[in-house]
Amino acid sequence: MCGIVGIIGNDNAGYKVLQGLKDLEYRGYDSAGIATIHNDRLGVKKSVGKISVMEDGFLKKPLEGRIGIGHTRWATHGVPSISNAHPHLDCSGRIAVVHNGIIENFVSIQKLLIKEGHKFVSESDTEVLAHLIEKFYKGNIERAVKEALMLVKGTYAIAVICAQEPGKLIIARHQSPLVMGVVKKGSYIIASDITPISKLTKRVIYLSDNEMAVLSMKDYHIVKISDLSRNLVKNIERIDWELGDSEKGKYKHFMLKEINEQPDIVKNIIFSHVIKKKGMIKFGGLESTWRTDNKKEQGKTGMDYLLNVSRIIILGCGTSWHSGLIGEYIIENLVGLPVEVEYASEARYRNLCINKNDMVLAISQSGETADTLMAIKEAKKKGAVTFGLVNVVGSSIAREVSGGIYLHAGPEIGVASTKAFTGQTIILALMAVLLGRHKGKISLERGKKIIKSLEKVPVQMKNIIDNDNSIKLLAKRLAKYNNFLYLGRAYNFPVALEGALKLKEISYIHSEGYPAAEMKHGPIALIDKNMPVVVIATDTEDEIYEKIISNIREIKSRRGIVIAVASEGNRKIRNIVDETIYIPRTDDFLVPILSVIPLQLLAYHIAVKKGCSVDKPRNLAKSVTVE
Ligand code: M6R
Repeated sequence: MCGIVGIIGNDNAGYKVLQGLKDLEYRGYDSAGIATIHNDRLGVKKSVGKISVMEDGFLKKPLEGRIGIGHTRWATHGVPSISNAHPHLDCSGRIAVVHNGIIENFVSIQKLLIKEGHKFVSESDTEVLAHLIEKFYKGNIERAVKEALMLVKGTYAIAVICAQEPGKLIIARHQSPLVMGVVKKGSYIIASDITPISKLTKRVIYLSDNEMAVLSMKDYHIVKISDLSRNLVKNIERIDWELGDSEKGKYKHFMLKEINEQPDIVKNIIFSHVIKKKGMIKFGGLESTWRTDNKKEQGKTGMDYLLNVSRIIILGCGTSWHSGLIGEYIIENLVGLPVEVEYASEARYRNLCINKNDMVLAISQSGETADTLMAIKEAKKKGAVTFGLVNVVGSSIAREVSGGIYLHAGPEIGVASTKAFTGQTIILALMAVLLGRHKGKISLERGKKIIKSLEKVPVQMKNIIDNDNSIKLLAKRLAKYNNFLYLGRAYNFPVALEGALKLKEISYIHSEGYPAAEMKHGPIALIDKNMPVVVIATDTEDEIYEKIISNIREIKSRRGIVIAVASEGNRKIRNIVDETIYIPRTDDFLVPILSVIPLQLLAYHIAVKKGCSVDKPRNLAKSVTVE
């Protein structure tokens, strides 16, 4: 949550910071602010609401300077207001700080600083940082920042500038993401993630926890916060995101663009990992040696671990948790290996029992979700081998785990996750096939058949997306309802959860996902003529299909409106439901990758019809970096 940007060594630093904030707006959009230094003076601009408000003001009266910092806020401490917006300043107005994270002990520090005469103007926890730095400032901003950070507890990624040292940008991180882009010697951009950085440079350095960097118009150095005397040597890495990846292009919203990107992403994933002749799957991330502190385990590859695990524990949040559930069903069915799926936030605070041969798999699009990151750290403390399924390269989770697989789905900007879900699900399905083949649960012949089905999936996805118009018309008819139920069984139960999440987060319509059979244990009481029920009723498994048809009849007996997602060619179902959306046929375990698409489109069109802010829904942020 919250995004920070900083620029040094660029003639148009303020404007560049503004552009960077636009790219980070998906992290929070309650308020924004920019500070630059020009002629040894700090200039500050703040606005409440989206970056467009800031942009209007900025363009009328730009902030000049070759150094600047900026912030886009997702409110944690204090309402969205000008005074709570970052950058926060010290009493003298010489030091400006932007911060992503939470200073947990800010109340006690604030009391102390107030006693010493510091004047606070906001409710924000961040403001203590500015005053604390001021307290320690004796002509060396690097030292003052370090001394301040030694006193704070909590999480932070910060950028600090000081009018008395106008040629220095200080950044530091502890459990909040921060990346530094090297444009050229003496010219740098820093940000919460690589999206704004990739427009200026492809060369980045990922800061680790407790590290601080001092960037100047000549050079930079990186140190441990606890040891300023020793410079750290860190590799410059190359990022491969292209400029267009984070642009909307011809689409009205990022969400629609990302829905449309899914067939290609899934195609790339499938075609880069299948070995047709062998009916086999291969992942580079599993073939490589995994990181470990255990000397006895050094040199082990991901496959060495994976083939010997007795249980996989999947951790994730939101949509990533849903794909984890599908992974559980697929791996248990195809491989017979026990899998548990936990909300990362819950796993962390209960005594999650981790046994010797368990592997903990973190699923996260952003790789920055604080709940998942902390749960992974907890699992590591308990001795677990950890594994990541992450989209953002170099993100905190990707660097925390022993090894893993990247989605390579490109930046997902829309707050509602779409392409990450299908990317995660297809990788979990491929992992199941890989394990099944190695463990003799899937024969060569079956492996080859599965690959044939897999190869058809991208085109099938595209066919559903091409049917967008009929879903749009349906959305128009349904947008007036206030409550929705989503039901599914087996592989389609997590899809029901995902469909309901998509609708509620972007259209603000109350919606719940349930296993279809659970309806009679409570939710059925809600059904009347004003309750649309989206039932995923594909017929790949006969027994399950018959049961779901009974559930549909139960809904119809209570005058509920049934929208069925059905398998192509199933004409009969039209006689018992109100609306039908058809999806192509595939193997049962691949159905979720197809059945989720109409639900993404339905949510999207309902939200558009209601005039909602599709890509930036209220109260949400793309990267949830607070617990
Ligand atoms: O980046 P992550 O996959 O770790 O994010 C987890 C959730 O915050 C995320 O899936 C969220 O639920 C989305 N807004 C759902 O569309």
